[in-house]
Amino acid sequence: MQAITLFVNGREVGVAAAGDTPLLDVLRNHLGLMGTKFGCGLEQCGCCMVLIDGRAEKSCGKALSTVAGKNILTIEGLGTPDRPHPLQQAFLDEQAGQCGYCLSGILISAKALLDRNLAPSRREIAEALDENVCRCGSHNRILRAVALAAERIREESRARGAAR
Ligand code: FES
Ligand code: FES
Repeated sequence: MQAITLFVNGREVGVAAAGDTPLLDVLRNHLGLMGTKFGCGLEQCGCCMVLIDGRAEKSCGKALSTVAGKNILTIEGLGTPDRPHPLQQAFLDEQAGQCGYCLSGILISAKALLDRNLAPSRREIAEALDENVCRCGSHNRILRAVALAAERIREESRARGAAR
């Protein structure tokens, strides 16, 4: 079996697996990246979201062969405990989540949104997270956390601009 090459969190990896293996299985079982969660396996819940070339996609429905040569960002590539991404910090500050199972998918969908729109309205945030299910009902806090992260990123970039 020929290894398929992809780029995961900035690192080139070769995966020796059948081309129809779901990307979610590759991430969790071949690469040990357990942050991306298995929920339904049917592209219905969004907890397996990753960025594929900058687009939020459900990794349970993506065959490995279709992501050859692509850039994948998983939750492990978003930030670290020492240097959390503003979204992660805002989710902590707003205590946005209960069991946390949905959160890696939600953070990835939110990252895709903020990468294209740094001043989203509440409605735009809700629309961007429409495909992410949270069974704990933490939606209000999640919406607040995404808005807070956007505000902090805007402030940071204003401050950087002023310092130039
Ligand atoms: S596990 Fe992929 S959408 Fe539910
Ligand atoms: S925090 Fe439990 S499913 Fe969202």
